[in-house]
Amino acid sequence: MPQLDEQKIVPVTNDRYRQHFHIMTNGGWLNDPNGLCFYKGYYHVFYQYHPYSTEWGPMHWGHVRSKDLLHWEYLPVALIPGDPEDDGGCFSGSAIVKDGRLYLIYTGQHYYDDGDQDHFWENQNVAFSDDGIHFQKYSGNPVIEAPKDNTQHFRDPKVWQHDDHYYLVLGSQNTAGFGRLLLYQSTDLLHWQEAGIIDQAHDLATEGFMWECPDLFSLGEQDVMVTSPMGIKATTHENLNSSQVDYSIGHLDYGTPHFSGTKLTELDHGHNFYATQTMLTPDQRRIQIGWMSPFEEQLQEHTDGWAGCLTFPRELTIQNNRLIQQPIWELVNLRQSQDVNETTLVNAETPLTLSDPQHCEIDLHWPKELLEEFSWQLNDQLGKLLALTYADGQLTLYRRGADAYRYASAAQLRSLQILVDTSSVEVFVNDGESTFTERYYATGPVAHFLNGTGCTTEVVAYRLA
Ligand code: FRU
Repeated sequence: MPQLDEQKIVPVTNDRYRQHFHIMTNGGWLNDPNGLCFYKGYYHVFYQYHPYSTEWGPMHWGHVRSKDLLHWEYLPVALIPGDPEDDGGCFSGSAIVKDGRLYLIYTGQHYYDDGDQDHFWENQNVAFSDDGIHFQKYSGNPVIEAPKDNTQHFRDPKVWQHDDHYYLVLGSQNTAGFGRLLLYQSTDLLHWQEAGIIDQAHDLATEGFMWECPDLFSLGEQDVMVTSPMGIKATTHENLNSSQVDYSIGHLDYGTPHFSGTKLTELDHGHNFYATQTMLTPDQRRIQIGWMSPFEEQLQEHTDGWAGCLTFPRELTIQNNRLIQQPIWELVNLRQSQDVNETTLVNAETPLTLSDPQHCEIDLHWPKELLEEFSWQLNDQLGKLLALTYADGQLTLYRRGADAYRYASAAQLRSLQILVDTSSVEVFVNDGESTFTERYYATGPVAHFLNGTGCTTEVVAYRLA
């Protein structure tokens, strides 16, 4: 494997936006979470990483591990690009443990060196480790090459075991220009056969031209397909980001093979959520982590020597044929002092007094009351920075700046759980029925406010550290 040039790694130069409980780099650019797994007593998370600048560039795999999914230890970079199978980058992929060995399956990126970043080809490769720290690329790479009826888009393998076989899904595009998912099958993780197309877009405007970062897993009796389709057209209230994460609940028939499920549904409604991946914990929870995207926007920490962070881990479940996301229960171990615990009638702007308003959890409940209007607001020195308002069965999120609004519908508002870190806010509505994931950049100290039309609100808030 090529060597890392330690001298060139960009240092963090300013702490002002550094997160306290979200995964980020310790210098350099980050995008997708990769290779989520549990191996030899640790949770491992890898991520798309460019160590030499705060811009996207030749992709490495950064690596952290944790005993508790809360406190992360930085490990040496796991994959460095530059071998013949990945000369243009080690793109996204996943991990699996077999016979005590940790396998990574990832996309090798290749450019034609004609100066056109869209002129590339992609293949799939394997690397492995016996200590979960040092990785070796497999000498037989690549293990999968693109089929003939595919364009250059052929990436982001997500691997799992089912009965006696290993399977992986790949994000792909057919030659007619539609996004789709391909299924491959193996007995040893090194030799793969194409099993078929399990699902594909039929309409570009609503389903997209390329399905990146696919995932497929079972939750109880049902199967869930998650992907990040590119090119879905925005409507008034939906798909307002340049790309978003969608899911479908249904059934994967391994025989055909075919996935049939509900229509693609946007998973998170905020400005900053993309390229998710899940893993199964030893106690059988399905945990998801995403990237607080996007590529297009210059994140303000760019000038501070780092860029990008991952979401707080979320547990996925299904209720009423809907994918529910909730912060993992381990969150309770970040709670320090309880700053607020009261039931208040909110009928005017009501400040919340918090000991650390940029590192906190705010839990709001309306167990009986049918709410008419309610809002939570975060202000900084310049005034309103972020706000979530509920009115007429609709949630509207405001973030100061261009393209300020995002939306989700909710017939009723029963609860809000708000996780605030130095430069992100994640809101879980009605115990995870809808979520909003946001980066924010405060000028000066911040303050939280509640407002509403006479709502009796149970308010609990904690300092998080
Ligand atoms: C999604 C993505 C993946 C790709 C990776 C490259 O954000 O474009 O499809 O593997 O990022 O960094």
